[in-house]
Amino acid sequence: EFGIPLSGFNIMVTAGPTREKVDPVRYFTNHSTGKMGYAIAEEAAKLGANVTLITGPTSITPPPNVTTINIESAQEMYEQVMKRYPNMDVVIKSAAVADYRPISIHEQKLKKQSENLTIELAKTTDILKELGQKKLHQLLVGFAAETNDLDVYAKKKLATKNLDLIVANNVTTEGAGFGTDTNIVTIYDKFLNKMELPLMSKKEVAKNLLLKVKDMLKDVNG
Ligand code: PMT
Repeated sequence: EFGIPLSGFNIMVTAGPTREKVDPVRYFTNHSTGKMGYAIAEEAAKLGANVTLITGPTSITPPPNVTTINIESAQEMYEQVMKRYPNMDVVIKSAAVADYRPISIHEQKLKKQSENLTIELAKTTDILKELGQKKLHQLLVGFAAETNDLDVYAKKKLATKNLDLIVANNVTTEGAGFGTDTNIVTIYDKFLNKMELPLMSKKEVAKNLLLKVKDMLKDVNG
């Protein structure tokens, strides 16, 4: 057992941004690089878990011993995540999923307009929320990327999305959030126990998070 604490557990991690197409040459996206999610997938595999990584486009090489599935849009991530959900013990949603997509994708490249251009957006499916609604035995971990009132919004997401854990980061703080090799996070569990971590590498954040996950799995599985 020692050294392989997550052995036998199936863990799905989502990472990176999504791309929402406007036309054949343009898309909407965000600043996620995948570093946070890849670090979690890598550490989970080192701890012996069977890891599936569902990832948006990134420039990072996938970690070894991880099943990696590449997606582009929020809808594609939704489909890949949902079909694997029943077989998972743990799902960790560190991806930065678009909340909106263009209502229609233009088949041809949009021509420059003489005036302003308006693109109508439709809401994407909230994957995490649906995972919370369909949760059976799974341990569900969400992220909250906030710019203000971190505690309030994180606790709200924890409750409304039926999560077991939430990892909150203030993405406007130096050394935290998008793109950096480090992060500053606060982890809440569903009993509202609070673990406030100082600035550390995303790898160390991943290790701390997975220790907490392991403890919660132990409570459930004895
Ligand atoms: O990739 P890096 O450059 O390393 O950056 C890391 C990070 C900042 C992306 C990461 O630490 C982080 O905060 N990830 C969550 C980003 C996010 O979209 O947060 P949110 O508060 O908007 O969403 C809350 C949760 O709902 C997230 O777990 C998200 O994956 C999920 N979600 C959101 C929208 C949607 N349609 N479906 C979802 O499942």
